[in-house]
Amino acid sequence: MSTLKVALLGCGVVGSEVARVLTKDAAELANRIGAPLELVGIAVRDLDRHRGSGLPDDLFTTDARGLVSRGDLDIVIEVIGGIEPARDLILTALEHGASVVTANKALLAQEAEALYDAAAKADRDLAFEAAVAGAIPIVRPLRESLAGDAVERVLGIVNGTTNFILDAMTTTGESFESALAEAQRLGYAEADPTADVEGHDAAAKAAILAGLAFHTRVTLGDVHCEGISAVTSADVALAGEIDSVVKLLAICEKIDTPDGHAVSVRVHPAMIPNTHPLASVRGAYNAVFVESESAGQLMFYGPGAGGSPTASAVLGDVVSAARNRVRGVVGPGESTHADLEIVGVGRTRTSYHLAIDVDDRAGVLAAIAHVFADHGVSIKTVRQVGTDDEAQLVIVTHAAVDANLAATVAALRDLDVVHDVSSVIRVEGS
Ligand code: NDP
Ligand code: HSE
Repeated sequence: MSTLKVALLGCGVVGSEVARVLTKDAAELANRIGAPLELVGIAVRDLDRHRGSGLPDDLFTTDARGLVSRGDLDIVIEVIGGIEPARDLILTALEHGASVVTANKALLAQEAEALYDAAAKADRDLAFEAAVAGAIPIVRPLRESLAGDAVERVLGIVNGTTNFILDAMTTTGESFESALAEAQRLGYAEADPTADVEGHDAAAKAAILAGLAFHTRVTLGDVHCEGISAVTSADVALAGEIDSVVKLLAICEKIDTPDGHAVSVRVHPAMIPNTHPLASVRGAYNAVFVESESAGQLMFYGPGAGGSPTASAVLGDVVSAARNRVRGVVGPGESTHADLEIVGVGRTRTSYHLAIDVDDRAGVLAAIAHVFADHGVSIKTVRQVGTDDEAQLVIVTHAAVDANLAATVAALRDLDVVHDVSSVIRVEGS
């Protein structure tokens, strides 16, 4: 079998590891594929940057477009990130007959339709295991292993930076700001950590997971997104008091509607009980918990970021795409036949944990209970913490329609006996 030509777009944290393993394990990969891979070019932004890769200088180019337009490539690996030029380069690579492997969740969450259509038109593979949860195999399990099952819910910790921060706040009691500074010092969080802490990175991954799980096209704009920058040490301590931890969760679920089913996709902080498998996911690790009709509960766990773990997922896709090229076939394309309605967060059902700063006198609890009752929200537990000026009512609700809970919180804030609704966090997994 003749050599398969591979081009690499980007040689940063992930790309440099991909290039290293492609070179180091060339003979073994050739055996697994049934044909050798030849790395014929690496596109970067800055040719003068010292990389210490040991790769020949003449492999590197700043002309990424020229590289993907050669016409003789079998596989293009895109690890530049962002929307452009990654989008244009991937479409051009497909047009010129290459299969594409990408780790680019931002692009997939925004432009999946254009990318899948181009891959289908070119009769080539579009593979993206590394785009969700780094090394953890979750795209292929949803796309292939569970293709004969009915997925009902996907609950994921899919951002390592935020999990590190929340775990540090839980373990040491430190503030969000202090835990974020530690995450930046250790290299987990970027200098500009917005995409991680505000949930945008997790939302992109949630869109990809939901699309695969429910055979419905889901884009970033469909995902309700709240980050962790408003989570306080007090929230984390309150979670501990009910034997729970606060996690940033990506939640993709199929919900019942009068007409059948719909899909809800959301990313937000939530309290989960210590007994839930996701509660034990520590530090910068990721995990995805899948509930399906026949398989029941499955948990996928591992490192969700970093050059080497992410390269593992990229290279798995490269081997798979290369095997397909050898056999002259392509893997599965987009599956959107279910085309389920995507509903906003207001229509989902959730339990809430609320801490309400109140007057400490007769009738206050009754007034507050009335507000919950008026909005059709059932209280599961209530306890008073502190007395007099420190009095706080801590309430956990039964699952209720999210919009009703939001209206309850707004009405509570209007009560004279309520000083503040100081903490409002959803409760999941109980
Ligand atoms: P880096 O910023 O480390 O690397 C980006 C690379 O792309 C650099 O080599 C850069 O060149 C090159 N590049 C940037 N712009 C251009 C351009 N216009 N033309 C050609 N090359 C360009 O990113 P990462 O390796 O961290 O991430 C890559 C992708 O992998 C992203 O989509 C990311 O979301 C995804 N990912 C990353 C993970 C991680 O842990 N880092 C985990 C999972 C997914 P130069 O070196 O010259 O600056
Ligand atoms: N920034 C991401 C995280 C890694 O913290 O998990 C890339 O997906």
